Amino acid sequence: MLKGLIFDLDGVLTDSAKFHLAAWNDLAKELGIRLTNEQLNSLRGISRMDSLDLILQYGHQTNEYTEQQKKQFAAAKNEKFLQQVDTMTPKDILPGIPQLLADAQEANLKMCIASASKNAPKILHKLKIASKFAGIVDAATVNKGKPDPEIYQKAQQLLHLKASEVISFEDAAAGVAAIKAAGQFAVGIGDRTVLKEADYLVASTKDLQLDKIVAAYINS
Ligand code: G6P
Ligand code: MG
Repeated sequence: MLKGLIFDLDGVLTDSAKFHLAAWNDLAKELGIRLTNEQLNSLRGISRMDSLDLILQYGHQTNEYTEQQKKQFAAAKNEKFLQQVDTMTPKDILPGIPQLLADAQEANLKMCIASASKNAPKILHKLKIASKFAGIVDAATVNKGKPDPEIYQKAQQLLHLKASEVISFEDAAAGVAAIKAAGQFAVGIGDRTVLKEADYLVASTKDLQLDKIVAAYINS
């Protein structure tokens, strides 16, 4: 029986994913690396240092920098990202999400956040929706990033629920892989070609309707 919902943050509750990708793309250019759209999109859901490592790999620059230099690159990217976070307001909550959260509350479903972002608490605060969630499992509290199932398993534990009792929401291929590896029902938001493993897929958050999602979960 369904008892809880687990949400990724960037690209699901708000479009901060585009700010992450823009800041990474700027950094890549500064390093002389031109990323394809596919390479850029593969960074969705990936932790900060893993994202940097992937970019350096795409640019054939692995091992060219010291750990100290890599930390500086990541810090510069984060500075740029935080400038965008500072401008966020509740208006930046994606369409369809306020209704979905209200319907879930009405149905007494427990909710929490499984985000790879160390900035997750700050973003939720800016969106003024932190109080809707029982908690956040963020990058600071997990050992392995998505696609490892750890973050979704911890989120499920935080809600005191079993894998079969939750539905989890993701916009990233790495995230959907993490949900499936945790044995949970995955709702993907985005492109079928990228989110192949999702149990239920919508093109946009606008199309998220709790009754339809629950029907798909029951039939799975
Ligand atoms: C999210 C985003 C990624 C980002 C990661 C780490 O999951 O989808 O693009 O790299 O969090 O974010 P942070 O704010 O800690 O750098
Ligand atoms: Mg995401």
